Amino acid sequence: MFYYISFLRPPPCSCLLSAPSVLITPQIANDLRTELYDDACDLYFAWLPLPPTHGTVGFEKLTTWRSSTLYKPVDVPLPRNVKLGQQWRLALCAPFDGHHKKHELPLIDLAATDFGNRPFPVLSLPISFISGSHVGRAPGGKKTKASSALTKSEKQEEIERCFFVSSTGEVNTVVTIKEQTSFDLDKKIWDSGLALSSWLRRKIALFKDEGPVEHDLAKELELFARLLSNESCNLACLGTGTGLVGIALAALLQTRQSLAPRNILVTDLPSAIPLIQHNISANAGLYTSVSLAADVLDWDEVSHQLPPEYNNRIDVIIMADVTYNTASFPSLIRTLKSLFSLPAQSSTEEGNPSPTPPLALLAYKERDPSERTLWEMARGVGIHFEQIDAISGAGGDPVEIWLGSAVV
Ligand SMILES: C[S@@+](CC[C@H](N)C(=O)[O-])C[C@H]1O[C@@H](n2cnc3c(N)ncnc32)[C@H](O)[C@@H]1O
Repeated sequence: MFYYISFLRPPPCSCLLSAPSVLITPQIANDLRTELYDDACDLYFAWLPLPPTHGTVGFEKLTTWRSSTLYKPVDVPLPRNVKLGQQWRLALCAPFDGHHKKHELPLIDLAATDFGNRPFPVLSLPISFISGSHVGRAPGGKKTKASSALTKSEKQEEIERCFFVSSTGEVNTVVTIKEQTSFDLDKKIWDSGLALSSWLRRKIALFKDEGPVEHDLAKELELFARLLSNESCNLACLGTGTGLVGIALAALLQTRQSLAPRNILVTDLPSAIPLIQHNISANAGLYTSVSLAADVLDWDEVSHQLPPEYNNRIDVIIMADVTYNTASFPSLIRTLKSLFSLPAQSSTEEGNPSPTPPLALLAYKERDPSERTLWEMARGVGIHFEQIDAISGAGGDPVEIWLGSAVV
């Protein structure tokens, strides 16, 4: 299980320059926000100006988080030298590691050996500093009408998290993912997606140019051969949510030179697409030679149309946390079956009527033991899943990494 720093009381979209502070309530909890971080944890804050300036960010201690003081608001002093009309973002992090010192952002290092042991940092959206006089509190702490109206209408509803993804060590490969503070399943980051991104980051680094290192599983070897070889590779992510795994993978593949086309299609229900599109565009500079696109793929729909450049072929299917609802298993399995048995297009695949079936990579965290019926159902349509790894984080149930392949 991982812990995420977030805002129980989010910062406002705008703040009077004359105000003494910005009021927030930090929270440290699991992905579902149902389990609070048990230990005391010092929280640090930093103000990041927009446009960003280069250099190190000065983090200062804000407070010590304790679950017993969960609802306690905290005053964050305004940025030093803030000027009218400027925009600043507020970063919160737990005691920081080397990367925070080197970067101007609070980063989640996907390659860290202690990945997920400490709560993940968070970044607010820009706060505009505006003119006007500060409406204080009446004696007794009661807010005036004007100040409560202002506070109510201006709370932020989105946050960002920044991921250091480089597999070759450059300092600037940073993926930024926007998520919503609401509980919509498709608009926030989940443990499984995060664990799978970290797993891919660490495994790809092991796969040096001269060939694989430290891989003993034949199917796992085949997976990375498909992802990193000089052959073209078509990937489809199902139930992608914010798009994190596909975007991180695109940035990782970009750092590995290949002359062959690499296509990643990140898919979800229609409600998820605008946020995925935003996240793809926000990180577009990181994957100029990898094609990354978003599209609707609803498992309940019977037929799925792939983009023409896919030539009706999928090499790797990627899924993270798509197993939380056993009622959706029949449609998910039907979707997998149809992607595993795509007929070759006669015009492009002449002489090869049965293309190699895809491999399916799945990140799974158990919420209920009944979810494990998925492997049996998959077997029933000719797909064999085996567990190839597990990622523990800060305790609790690990995220399991499973690899599915066609039964021969
Ligand atoms: C728990 S979220 C996981 C998101 C992301 N993979 C991650 O790990 O961060 C489950 C995702 O599955 C998607 N989903 C649920 N039912 C679906 C369906 N019938 N067709 C396509 N996607 C679906 C949801 O919209 C949501 O984005």
